Formats: sequence, C-alpha cells, structure tokens
Amino acid sequence: MVSQETLLFLKPDAVVRRYTGARVLNELTEGAEVKHYEVVEPGRDFLANEHYPQHEGRFFYDWLVDYVSASPLHLLVLEDDDLIEGVREQLGDTVPQEAAGDSLRGRYGIFGGLNVAHASDSPENAQTEIDRWQDVLDDDATDHADRLDEYIQTYLNYPMVDPVRYRELTRSYVDEQISEEEARDAFTFLLSKETDAPPTTVARLVDVMVANAELER
Ligand code: TYD
Repeated sequence: MVSQETLLFLKPDAVVRRYTGARVLNELTEGAEVKHYEVVEPGRDFLANEHYPQHEGRFFYDWLVDYVSASPLHLLVLEDDDLIEGVREQLGDTVPQEAAGDSLRGRYGIFGGLNVAHASDSPENAQTEIDRWQDVLDDDATDHADRLDEYIQTYLNYPMVDPVRYRELTRSYVDEQISEEEARDAFTFLLSKETDAPPTTVARLVDVMVANAELER
C-alpha cells in the first residue's frame, strides 16, 4: 500500500444540486485525510489553459470550460492509501449513461459531460494538478475538514430530485420532442426544487444543460 494525494472537485451540477454534492463528497472522502477544502472560482482561463489543456480541440472542449465555469467549485485535496484508483472507481466512467449503475456518476450524473465531479486519474496527473491549483488556493485555515463536514451535514438533509428526471428531459430535448424553451423551463423548475444557489448560477447551469444536450444532437 502506498499513501497518495489526489485532487478532486465538485462540478456545477453537483454544486447546485445540493444533496448530490453532499452525498458525493461524503462517499469520496470516507476514510481519507482532508488536506484542503476550499470553495474556489478559478476562472475560464485557468480551467481552459491549466486544468483542461489536454482536451483543446475536442468537440466538447468549449462546452466543458463553460460547464466547469458555471458555478464556484468545491475543491479538495485528499490523502489516503491507494487513493487515486479507489476514488476513480467510486466515481465511475466519464459519461454517466455508460457508468456502472452503482458508481457515483451512474447514480447522480445526468448525461453526456454532466458527470458531478472531477478526480485525478493517475499519480502523475494528481501531482501536476495539485501543483497547478496552488495558484488558485488561498485559504490557509486549519479547519478544512470541519468546514467540509459542516457543508456535508447541512446538505445531506436537503431535498433531492431523482436524476432520472433530468436524464429523461435531456433525452426528450436531444430527440427534439420538446422545444428549447420547454427544456429550459423544466430544467429550471427541477433545479429550483433542490437548491438554494442564486438564480444567476442556476441560469448558467441551465445554459450548459441545454448545450450539453445539443452536443448530442
Ligand atoms: P476526461 O478527462 O476524459 O474524463 P474524466 O473526467 O473521467 O477524467 O474528460 C474530462 C471531461 O470532459 C469529462 O469529465 C466531461 C467532458 N467530456 C465530455 O463532455 N464528453 C466526452 O465524450 C468526454 C470524453 C469528456
């Protein structure tokens, strides 16, 4: 067994869907040491050039940067034995509809790229990501684990909309059974049932939910 550090963050679909985010963090952090927890807004340039440069030119790249810029991110550095593979296993395959049904992305991911969280996928990438994100982190407090626990406990009691409803809605829009306006209104309505995020943040997430479906058309 070897002790490893990994970097992970909740993506906007799991930040706005409060219960989902709390649940994902609760499961991913179980047994690990929380070395850092901070709510950050890295900005589009950082995400495009420092976090996702390897995807530049791919069909989903611009959408991905819009998606991950849609809300503040809950970012963690964790340490535990053999952590990196274990976290990736818990998370499941990239695309939710292809992820194992009992994985976090299979249970809570929506569709296409809307897949709840990022986690480093190798020891090399974990080190690179932890180094690069140092430029974004500025909270030197020592109570990160307590603050994370407070966040998790607050939102584990929140209402949750069944992710199937988002998936069915996305599929209806991909198949052109509903208009863009209907899709927007329905996504906004579902999100309003399970968030206390500001309306501007919800609206940005709705934009990327619609654009995610359009990538599938
Ligand atoms: P990648 O690093 O391949 O996946 P992972 O997050 O599992 O390490 O891709 C980064 C993100 O890009 C992924 O989380 C969501 C988005 N993406 C898509 O939207 N569509 C795709 O087909 C792929 C491969 C990724």
